[in-house]
Amino acid sequence: MMTQKRCRVVGFRIGSLELENPLVLAPMAGFTDLPFRRICRRLGAALTYTEMVSAQGLVLGNPMSRRLILSDGSDRPFAVQIFGSDPDVMAQAARICQEEGADLVDINMGCPVPKVVKRGAGAALLERPLVAGRILEAVRRVLRIPLTIKVRSGWTAEQVVAPEIARMAQECGVDAIALHARPRSQGYTHCAQWALIRQLRESVSIPVIGNGDVLSPADALTLRDATGCQGIMIGRGARGGPWIFSRALAMLEGGRLSPEPAGSEVWRIVETHLESIRDHYAPDRALHVAKAHLLRYLRGRPASARVRESAVRASSVAALRAIVRDHLTLLASEPGEEGVSSQQ
Ligand SMILES: Cc1cc2nc3c(=O)[nH]c(=O)nc-3n(C[C@H](O)[C@H](O)[C@H](O)COP(=O)(O)O)c2cc1C
Repeated sequence: MMTQKRCRVVGFRIGSLELENPLVLAPMAGFTDLPFRRICRRLGAALTYTEMVSAQGLVLGNPMSRRLILSDGSDRPFAVQIFGSDPDVMAQAARICQEEGADLVDINMGCPVPKVVKRGAGAALLERPLVAGRILEAVRRVLRIPLTIKVRSGWTAEQVVAPEIARMAQECGVDAIALHARPRSQGYTHCAQWALIRQLRESVSIPVIGNGDVLSPADALTLRDATGCQGIMIGRGARGGPWIFSRALAMLEGGRLSPEPAGSEVWRIVETHLESIRDHYAPDRALHVAKAHLLRYLRGRPASARVRESAVRASSVAALRAIVRDHLTLLASEPGEEGVSSQQ
């Protein structure tokens, strides 16, 4: 019988930051807070991103914005992603992130949400390379830590600007680029075009972090082999299943799919996650965030309908934890669905 060859997973470097493997947790608004970043890091992500944070909010001292960039070190190395359109404000915000302990600052150049784009930020910067360049120069000037950008491929499928933006970013001293391989116009309606990630990798010398539709451990291996990208960024595939990182690592190492973690292990992770949410937020916010995550963990587990109903009605995180504990046997006996995802 042939034995599968194991190979050491090679990490990569973003400027001065040495990463132990290629796996990166994508920024996700409402999801990639400190408790979730910590879990993903423990389960194998080499780098985690905060959700996008308003540069203006940080500069004006908005407590909500400031809270989003907090870390206790357990999620390190972590990146803070900022969005905005004014070079001076972006530079001031980047400096705040650096002072607060971020390992890296990322500029959002891909968010398609109208509220953001209307203000000239996010994906709007793909159409305004001059402004984008001024932002990068201003931010680079104040940062000692590495700088990355996260882009979509362009505004429409016909107009691919990522390589042009990436070359400009490289000249401005950006240390890596993450590409969500879809245009702004597509939202999530089409498949990510991984060929664009390969094309981008061939057009710049800084590392490329490939992103889009890595929903299972096997997808991580396929993306790396198809594109040669140095980093593999996972978003939706980690919601309700952060063990995608440990399983993807096993896949990259041995080329073989490891089983889903045992039910009891899954529920131990869920409990730890809920406790960590409880400790991080004020009670009302904690309940809201904990429910959002728990409902994700329950997805694709058919017999969990009853548990889901109780969870929706729960009035505290302690009640949610009790529900999980009471139904542990039922939940632990059910595997989740591989690669379940929802479109944002
Ligand atoms: C709920 C949600 C929130 C997101 N928030 C952000 C964000 O704050 N900043 C960002 O650059 N991308 C954001 N994204 C996009 C993801 O980072 C990622 O590019 C996209 O989901 C494609 O990767 P995936 O197929 O692995 O999910 C978000 C995606 C989702 C589903």
